[in-house]
Amino acid sequence: MEINIGTHRRVQPRTVVRVSSCTTMRVITIQSDAPDQAAIDDAADVLRRGGLVAFPTETVYGLGANALDASAVARIFAAKGRPSYNPLIVHVPNEAAARELASAWPESASRLARAFWPGPLTVVVRKRDIVPDIVTAGLDSVALRVPAHPIALALLRTSGLPLAAPSANRSMALSPTIARHVVRSLGDRVELILDGGHTNVGIESTVVDLRGEQPVILRPGVINGYELEPYVGAIGLSPPAAGAAPRASPGMLDRHYAPRARVILFESADAPSVLAEVARARASGTVVGMLLIETRAGGANLLRMPNDALDYARRLYAYLHALDESNCDVIYVERVPAGPEWVGVRDRLERAARP
Ligand code: TXA
Ligand code: MG
Repeated sequence: MEINIGTHRRVQPRTVVRVSSCTTMRVITIQSDAPDQAAIDDAADVLRRGGLVAFPTETVYGLGANALDASAVARIFAAKGRPSYNPLIVHVPNEAAARELASAWPESASRLARAFWPGPLTVVVRKRDIVPDIVTAGLDSVALRVPAHPIALALLRTSGLPLAAPSANRSMALSPTIARHVVRSLGDRVELILDGGHTNVGIESTVVDLRGEQPVILRPGVINGYELEPYVGAIGLSPPAAGAAPRASPGMLDRHYAPRARVILFESADAPSVLAEVARARASGTVVGMLLIETRAGGANLLRMPNDALDYARRLYAYLHALDESNCDVIYVERVPAGPEWVGVRDRLERAARP
């Protein structure tokens, strides 16, 4: 199975896709390294009018709305089918814009902003009143990040708006790493999609709560705790305990980041018996996909994964989306190594495998 995850496509003509009679969804293909200003202006207009625009960030595609407009943000929740207790990340163009939305900006936030922004790191700080409650699910905190993507940054600068943007998929499903995933998941629930090719990081940002005495990682990502510690000291690495109230750990909903197919994780050492099981399942008509770190055998829907955490993260969702598209009933995934650089990928795989 061939999946092209080559990075940003070159200049292509602007394309318009009309999807349904009630709403028109447009897809504009836009170059990532030098975004066409006319397309950015178009998207900024939609946002100023209170509409929804899906756009690439370096992690995954976001579904953006004006974060200061409660009714625009309500459209995000409706489009995603997202529970109202799960707060959104607000994207801003720089640290100064982040501070305008925060009622307290600890020294740790400044240090992390200088070290990692623009980049795949989200900080949770106390919010200002101008941030509507719907954005933060009624919490007195707000999650902020500066995305490292020229299209996202151009949109933030041109619109002059902070953009609330969760991943551009229906709630609980896999995040999109290409525009086609957005079309498939949200269809005409989104007014405009900026298609800037494949995202580079591939899994969602690391979320770190900076309100307490000790920073706590609420969601692991490709920036791990060891990389944060030089700037903020010791970090609480473990997410809140399972069963904690959703408001205390809003992003830690149990099944999340999951393909339609059932996901089963297995240890490398068990590969021979798993392969035998897969052969039996296939013989009885089950459509089986596999993600293996090493090549062990060929065959349909068997995808080889890189033995490098960043490369693996970049490909993971695209591969799971592809296996879903080929109607897999079940996907066997070889467990990834134990090192700290794998913590984000491991978290997503474990969530995807939850029943
Ligand atoms: O990489 C990303 O972060 C992507 C791109 C689009 O920026 N966005 C993303 O957003 O993944 P979303 O909404 O799918 O995930 C936001 C996460 C959730 O786990 C949510 O619970 C958490 O951030 N979050 C947001 N606001 C929070 C807050 N005030 N306190 C604690 N957690 C918060
Ligand atoms: Mg999401």
